[in-house]
Amino acid sequence: MRKRRIIIDTDPGHDDALAIILLEKSGLFDVRAITTVAGNSTIENTTNNARYILDLLDSVTPIFSGAAAPLQRELIRADVHGESGLAGADIKKSEPLSGNAADKIVEIVKTYPGEITILALGPLTNLARAFQKDETIVPMIQEVVMMGGAIAVPGNKNRVAEFNIFVDPDAANIVFRAAVPKVLMPLDVCNHIFFTLKKFDELKNTNLYKPIKDMMIHYIQGVLRFEKIEAAIMYDPLAAYYLINSNAFTAELMDVQVETQSELTRGMTVADRRIWGEKHPNVTVVLSADRNLFIRDFLKILKRD
Ligand code: RIB
Ligand code: CA
Repeated sequence: MRKRRIIIDTDPGHDDALAIILLEKSGLFDVRAITTVAGNSTIENTTNNARYILDLLDSVTPIFSGAAAPLQRELIRADVHGESGLAGADIKKSEPLSGNAADKIVEIVKTYPGEITILALGPLTNLARAFQKDETIVPMIQEVVMMGGAIAVPGNKNRVAEFNIFVDPDAANIVFRAAVPKVLMPLDVCNHIFFTLKKFDELKNTNLYKPIKDMMIHYIQGVLRFEKIEAAIMYDPLAAYYLINSNAFTAELMDVQVETQSELTRGMTVADRRIWGEKHPNVTVVLSADRNLFIRDFLKILKRD
């Protein structure tokens, strides 16, 4: 059976790294491109980090760098991942910046109309720019799966907003309003699924164990500082796992809009959960995940040679 064709838009990022490793090692996907965006760190760093991750996998997936900043705002980076965005990784190469991520998203979607799924693991700037460049691609996209948002839980960047949406709420607003099937993997689900450093020891006999452990030591220290939990929260790997096994999740079609005007609630994903009132459903929001299934499959796939 033909492999599912995907584009991974990402701001590596320790959890992005695990998500990319999971999908590449699964053997289930034809990854047409990794497109990078600034978020966890600068575009230079996230692109170098993407190269490092693909080199770990001996992957030939092409990398196309994209936005160095949000559509209309200054870049606000994450703190959890360290200065480089992938603390603990022995980055030796400087990956050239092609700066054409949005163009490549348009090109790839038009090459495979109806067949491309876009997995968005960072701020949505590249995807929004692609829609602005050529809105005809919107109905050609099979599905957009996003790690982002916070529906009924506090934010992780301000009081109410999740980081990816907070960084570029204007881009998120464009994507949330676009007439393309969308799935949102929010903090409501991700906050509950994490690996302790010891859990990663189950990968001890693999060639990825040492680089992964070296990265996770730093990621877990970052999470401990800000989320007060000594573990690797599996934000992006969960969004990636949705592509592998959507049956491991429950979800609900909702009417969700993005706050772009207020500074206090910038980036809030505001779901209309009232019983009454006209709704305009626009995104399938994941409500729960089968934690054991995810852990089982994550480890099984990462243990593969
Ligand atoms: O809020 C978590 C998200 O922000 C993840 O994608 C993580 O990599 C950071 O980008
Ligand atoms: Ca990310």
